[in-house]
Order: sequence, then structure tokens, then C-alpha cells
Amino acid sequence: MGAFAVKDLTWQGEQMSEGALVLLDLYGQNHDGELWERPYVFDPGRFVGVSVGRDDLVPQGGGDPHTGHRCAGEAVTMAILRTLAVQLAQLDYTVPRQDLTISLRRVPTRPRSGFIISDVRLRAERADLRSGGPKGQGAASR
Ligand code: HEM
Repeated sequence: MGAFAVKDLTWQGEQMSEGALVLLDLYGQNHDGELWERPYVFDPGRFVGVSVGRDDLVPQGGGDPHTGHRCAGEAVTMAILRTLAVQLAQLDYTVPRQDLTISLRRVPTRPRSGFIISDVRLRAERADLRSGGPKGQGAASR
């Protein structure tokens, strides 16, 4: 994540001139062994019941959005993801063979083939609910 220094400054001993390009190493931050246990392991459960520091997990920037440049859409994004993640977890799908390697030279980065899924379907038990459910209520919608 990059920005230009708006004036000459010294930050944590580093001198920067006005106009210098400053890059925040998000990959380094997200894989910092001082912050995260087993940082290279995909483990969403690591966040359960844990309060994460404001400037530790920074997918949408760090600092305070009211006084800095942290993402102004973070609250709405998180609200959407909280709802969407539950819906997506109710799907079964197939992940065909593809290139899921990630280039660290591309900004923003992403798996080379994106993330292709096929044969998307509701889990069997959810399909039961769609056809009326045990008490004939609660149809899930897609
Ligand atoms: C997954 C979704 C999103 C991600 C990963 C994301 C990430 C970011 C990042 C990294 C920044 C730069 C922070 C910085 O420079 O310190 C940013 C800024 C910003 N984002 Fe987002 N964002 C997302 C969604 C949104 C949405 C939905 C909105 C609006 C509804 C939004 C509005 C903004 C605005 C206005 C800024 C500029 C803030 C400023 O410079 O003061 N973002 N976002």
C-alpha cells in the first residue's frame, strides 16, 4: 500500500523527503511472527474470541478512519461480509483444477486464475429447508 510523503519527515528513525513514495508492507504485516502465531497457516479460527489490535490486522488500512486514511468503507464492508460469509458457508461447490498461486509482484494481488468454482449448490440440508423445511417455514433464498 503506497502513499507520497506530504512533507520532509523522520519516522522511527527513517528520514523521508517530501514527495517520497512510502510503501507499507502489508504482506510482511500479515505474516509477522511477532503478531501472529503460525502466520503462514490459513486458520480463521485464530480470531475466535480474540480481540485484534487496531493496527495489527490492516486489510483496509491502519489507524483511525476519522483522522487518517484508513478505509472509510470498512464498517459497511465488514457488515456485508458477516452476512455473506454465513450464506456462502451453506453452499457446496467444486473447485476445478486451476492456478491458485499468487504473484507477489502484482498490485493488488490475487490468485493467477482468480478463484473459479463450479457445480454450486445448496447443502443437502439447506435444500430441504427450501422445499418447506420440517415445519413448512424458513425457505432459504439464494
Ligand atoms: C474488501 C473491501 C475493501 C478493501 C479491502 C478496502 C481497502 C482499502 C484500503 C487498503 C484503503 C487505503 C487505506 C490507507 O491509505 O491508509 C482504503 C481506502 C478507502 N476506502 Fe476502502 N476498501 C474496501 C471497501 C470499501 C468500500 C465498500 C468503500 C465505500 C463504501 C470504501 C471506501 C474507501 C475510501 C473513501 C477510502 C479513502 C480513505 C481516505 O483516503 O481518507 N472502501 N480502502
